[in-house]
Amino acid sequence: MQTWLRRKDIDKVCIHEEGRRLVPSLGWPHLVALGIGAIVGTGIYTLIGVGANLAGPAVLLSFLIAGIVCACAALAYAEMATMMPAAGSAYTYSYTVLGETIAWVVGWSLILEYTLVVSTVAVGWSGYAVGFLKGVGIDMPLALTVGPHAGGLINLPAIAITWVVAGALIAGTRESATVNAFLVVAKLLALGVFVAIALPGFDASNLHPFMPYGFAESTGPDNVKHGVMAGAAIIFFAFYGFDAISTAAEETKNPSRDLSIGIIGSMVGCTLIYMIVALAAVGAMHYTVFGHSPEPLALIMRELGHGVAAKVIAAAAVIALPTVLLAFFYGQSRIFFVMSRDGLLPRSLSKVGRRGTPVAITVFTAIVTSALAGVASLDEIAALANAGTLIAFIAVAACMLVLRRRDPRRTRAFRAPLAWVIGPVAILGCAYLFTSLPTRTQLWCLAWNAFGLLVYLLYARRSSLLAQGRDT
Ligand code: ALA
Repeated sequence: MQTWLRRKDIDKVCIHEEGRRLVPSLGWPHLVALGIGAIVGTGIYTLIGVGANLAGPAVLLSFLIAGIVCACAALAYAEMATMMPAAGSAYTYSYTVLGETIAWVVGWSLILEYTLVVSTVAVGWSGYAVGFLKGVGIDMPLALTVGPHAGGLINLPAIAITWVVAGALIAGTRESATVNAFLVVAKLLALGVFVAIALPGFDASNLHPFMPYGFAESTGPDNVKHGVMAGAAIIFFAFYGFDAISTAAEETKNPSRDLSIGIIGSMVGCTLIYMIVALAAVGAMHYTVFGHSPEPLALIMRELGHGVAAKVIAAAAVIALPTVLLAFFYGQSRIFFVMSRDGLLPRSLSKVGRRGTPVAITVFTAIVTSALAGVASLDEIAALANAGTLIAFIAVAACMLVLRRRDPRRTRAFRAPLAWVIGPVAILGCAYLFTSLPTRTQLWCLAWNAFGLLVYLLYARRSSLLAQGRDT
């Protein structure tokens, strides 16, 4: 078989040598909590403002479109994850179905996704943390709370939270997942408070004009792509995270049942919550008021005269957004781990520590993500994270369809309904969202993958275990 087409044996992806195996310790409640913990975050708490700036009140449609595309991708993920409960998610599925080179591109894109999500959420967290501290009388200097793009020097709170979460993760997966479940409840309660206050203040005049920048790409006053699809391309950020659950597959006790409940349950729940929060936000206040805020939900509460609720929401964001960081940190270390176990990255990276967690990778991830969080602008890194994720989603939907054709008799603990509808919707929807991202983001994504392919050609292609005739 051609080198670039070589595939891992689908029946062997769950078998690993001693010392490179992760411990199965998670049940479905952990996974639903990990899922909602990973999904509800900076997307709904902060990027709702950025999305509204791009689409106007029609950001509601942006939520709907991104939600539908993600739901289709989630179904494909559930089918693949239950068939291959191995760490590595989209990367591992691609390796067994589409071949090593595409798997490399997907893995490399996932590294981009996870790194930038961690940095983005850290910056979003910082916005609420600074607002919260201000609310209780502690004013931090601008220079230390935002990056140079916003007139500051460095975003210290964003750097600090990254390291706190890395420490929690190194302390052990199981403990972190249990704490995560409590924080998820806090995060959802705060959104409940927001809706309970904002929805009664609904004023239809705030929805006019509903679609100020049209549906498809149009250039706005700031020379940036606007419109419902540009909004959807950024709001997409709010929906993913269920894929982080599939990276926990190898550590799941009963993968076929737990993974499908975890992925689909958390996805459907979050879509409903988002639609209600978005409706409450754009109905309560004209989008131009909160569009540029680093803490839009808290701002809306303050503007409506509910200072205490603003503080409650900010406090919940501060204690609970780290659950998103936790999930993506976790996903990031697992992707590195699996790629190195396959020999595509240095093998020394796949050794697990005494507690069963890959310490070296977690520390490395913390260094990179905190450096980015310290200086980068929220919307730019979020858009680039989306680009990497869209590539992974396209690959997973393609894997599902190819495998349905190639191996129709294989047992599927979860069969995605209407695969030949949801598969193409996921693939074309993600492709359309990708084209709706800012041009600069697309170019950065291409550059990252061109660099990745160079690493593949010069190193990974030869160091791969498959190249040496081994496959576990
Ligand atoms: N969906 C996650 C968030 O909104 C990444 O923060």
